[in-house]
Amino acid sequence: MHAASAFTLSGRDLLGIEGLIASEITGLLDLAEEFVELNRQVEKKRTTLRGRTQINLFFEASTRTQSSFEIAGKRLGADVMNMSVGSSSVKKGETLVDTAITLNAMHPDILVVRHHASGAVALLARKVDCCVVNAGDGAHEHPTQALLDALTIRRNKGRIQGLTVAICGDVLHSRVARSNIILLHTLGAKVRVVAPSTLLPSGIESLGVEVFRTMEAGLDGADIVMMLRLQRERMAGSFIPSVKEYFHYFGLDEAKLRRAAPDALVMHPGPMNRGVEIDSAVADGPRSLIREQVEMGVAVRMAVLDTLARKLPNA
Ligand code: NCD
Repeated sequence: MHAASAFTLSGRDLLGIEGLIASEITGLLDLAEEFVELNRQVEKKRTTLRGRTQINLFFEASTRTQSSFEIAGKRLGADVMNMSVGSSSVKKGETLVDTAITLNAMHPDILVVRHHASGAVALLARKVDCCVVNAGDGAHEHPTQALLDALTIRRNKGRIQGLTVAICGDVLHSRVARSNIILLHTLGAKVRVVAPSTLLPSGIESLGVEVFRTMEAGLDGADIVMMLRLQRERMAGSFIPSVKEYFHYFGLDEAKLRRAAPDALVMHPGPMNRGVEIDSAVADGPRSLIREQVEMGVAVRMAVLDTLARKLPNA
């Protein structure tokens, strides 16, 4: 096959973007490009994961990420099992470890894990023998989201190096923002975060981003405007005066988008709250890459699964 198929990652797992070097990221993106082509064919099946068992263990609700990992695994020939664990019935600590030990006894080859606590996926990875993919842990990391965003940007802009990317909204609760900041810096983009002070983690400047507290200033000349969902389920107490006021100041509409570069493109990881962080006219407009992000998600996850599986014993 192509040169990209010979590429490997240094680690057994994909727990975050942190720790990946630029050539590992671009290697995954190059391989994902091949899967974009495959996914547009009638015959979409490969046999790389034939005989392998993939378990998707989701302690948090998910539609697109879970289905995307399921389709990715099946297209590569794996047996995929979905386990959705209602977070209410799950107690932290020992229970998570026990779950890991139980699943491990069933000899899975790949575990794809989403958990509401930051660091939980790394903890689980230490207890199992198979490879583990982080599908989102608390407000920590969501590596495949950042990879699919990078693939979408690269395909539309031809590069990532030198672009100005404005990440806007609920940065405080966002693993998507963290993974994207790390990835985009590694590939040489300039990253801005735009949010009210209450939705910015303290010390965010230490990640090397430029911080803006108004959309007008933060979007000025930006090449990519990446909107984040207002994660109200993670908010204990009041972070914004009202949804209406939030939309007025921080919701992306056509007037605010005019501040960005003339050829600026708009992204959102989904699920979107229309009329909260983004106006429908922008979400469905000609500059929106939102649907393409979903398509890239399957390809990127195939690239990740394929790459990790090549390092499994007996591969
Ligand atoms: C994101 C997540 O779960 O972190 N969604 C996703 O994976 N598509 C962002 C969000 O929930 O707002």
